[in-house]
Order: sequence, then structure tokens, then C-alpha cells
Amino acid sequence: MSTNESQSDVARAALKLPRHVAIIMDGNGRWAKKRYMPRFAGHKAGVEAVRSIVRYCANKGIEVLTLFAFSSENWRRPEEEVSLLMDLLLTSLQRQVKKLHDNNVQLRFIGDHHAFSPKLSEKIVEAEQLTRDNTGLVLVVAINYGGRWDITQAARKVARRVALGEIDCEQIDERLMHASMALHDLPEPDLFIRTGGEQRVSNFLLWQLAYTELYFTDTLWPDFKEEAFELALRSFASRQRRFGHTGEQMERLQGA
Ligand code: IPE
Ligand code: IPE
Ligand code: MG
Repeated sequence: MSTNESQSDVARAALKLPRHVAIIMDGNGRWAKKRYMPRFAGHKAGVEAVRSIVRYCANKGIEVLTLFAFSSENWRRPEEEVSLLMDLLLTSLQRQVKKLHDNNVQLRFIGDHHAFSPKLSEKIVEAEQLTRDNTGLVLVVAINYGGRWDITQAARKVARRVALGEIDCEQIDERLMHASMALHDLPEPDLFIRTGGEQRVSNFLLWQLAYTELYFTDTLWPDFKEEAFELALRSFASRQRRFGHTGEQMERLQGA
């Protein structure tokens, strides 16, 4: 274990820092509307918030940050907004990947990529390949992602194995399903944050959020900077996670 790793482990234990934070970055449109600007200006301002939160997580020693950038339902938006969002994703990748790589960030993408332009798909593969051996923050970007899609594609993978005779129906259990889901090789999300005031999951990580602590804030995503993130971390640190146990059991386990 490197000094850096052991230091961040100690800091994490002291502060009860989440290993994995998953965020629904919501409120860009309303942020722009408040300023009499087009919705797209809100999305652009949102990219700045992404940069500051990524930097913060990397410095703080958070292991995984998963960001919901475009849901499988966001295709329902006006064509112009969808196309501007896709352009913004592409240009942000073009601009940021090298810097992320230099900062030892490992980039990953989850979601159904079939619908993307060849250019965006290419950039995604390139970014993943370039950063795959990095050992710092794992930054997961969910694009055209839906929790129901994720569970469905996992079921399809498992069904294929049954059809090939590799496994028996009776062998299908949570562990096997989990192994076919997105993020299966990463720690489960400890903290879920949704900005923008809505208190819903909007088809984000349905399977993976089973025991995640939920945090909702009215702060609009472009305004969600370090101080706002720290409030969420503080709220997380003050909670007792019980995973079905009693509070007393957890105290005993933690004291052990
Ligand atoms: C989140 O902000 C960004 C995406 C969904 C891509 P919104 O665009 O949903 O902003 P509001 O909810 O309309 O304010
Ligand atoms: C969720 O936000 C998706 C992303 C932030 C990418 P939405 O703004 O699309 O969610 P709803 O439609 O209000 O539930
Ligand atoms: Mg929204």
C-alpha cells in the first residue's frame, strides 16, 4: 500500500468518507431560466461544476464518482437540446480527457452506447483505453443509461449463459445477477446525491442503490461546488448504516 493510499484510508475512517458517490446532476435548465438564458447555457455551466467536483473527489481520496450525464429518457427532450447535449459531451471529452489522464483518473462509461454517433463512441473507447491503468479516482459517466436497461441487459447475459448450458436456472442468484450489472467490479455506491430539488431516482442505478444513503439538495447543479458537496459528505458521516442489523449490533461491529 502506498503512503497516499494509507493516508486516505485513515482519513476515510476518521471522517466516514464514502468510497463511492453517485450523483444525479439536475437543475441546469432551471439555473439558466433564472438568468433568462437558454437551457444550453445551464448545461455548459454544469460542465464547470463537474470539473470542480471531480477535482475535489480526486483530492479527497474518494475512490469512485458516478455521474448521471444523460438518461435513457432524455431522448424525449426537444431534438435541438439533445443534439446540443451530445455535442457538449463530445467537446468536454475532447478537452478534458488528457487532463484527467494526467491526474491519474480512470474514466469509464456506462449505458447503452448503440445510439451514439460514431465520433462519440470512438472518443469513449479511446478515453477508456487511455486511462484504464490509472490508479486514482474512477470516474464513471452514465450516458444513455437507465437502471431498467441495466437490469434487462444483465438478465439477457445470464439467460444467454443458461441457453448455452453453462449454468442452470437454479444457479441464478443475486451474486450472478450482480456480476452482470454495470459497476459490478466497483464498491457499491455509499452516497447518492441529487441536486435540483426533485426527490426521485429517475431510473438511475436501481439495482446498485439498494443500500445507498440518499441525499437531496435544492442547490441547482451549476451551483453545486465544494461547500455544497461538503454538506452532503457531512450528512453522510452523521448517519448510521445498518444493512438490516439493529443499531446496537452495528455499534458492536464497529467497535470490534
Ligand atoms: C440536468 O439538468 C441535465 C440533464 C438531464 C442532461 P436538466 O436539464 O434536467 O435541468 P432542469 O431539471 O430542467 O432544471
Ligand atoms: C435525470 O434528470 C437525468 C440526468 C440528470 C442525466 P431529469 O431532469 O431527466 O429527470 P426527471 O425527468 O426530472 O425525472
Ligand atoms: Mg431535470
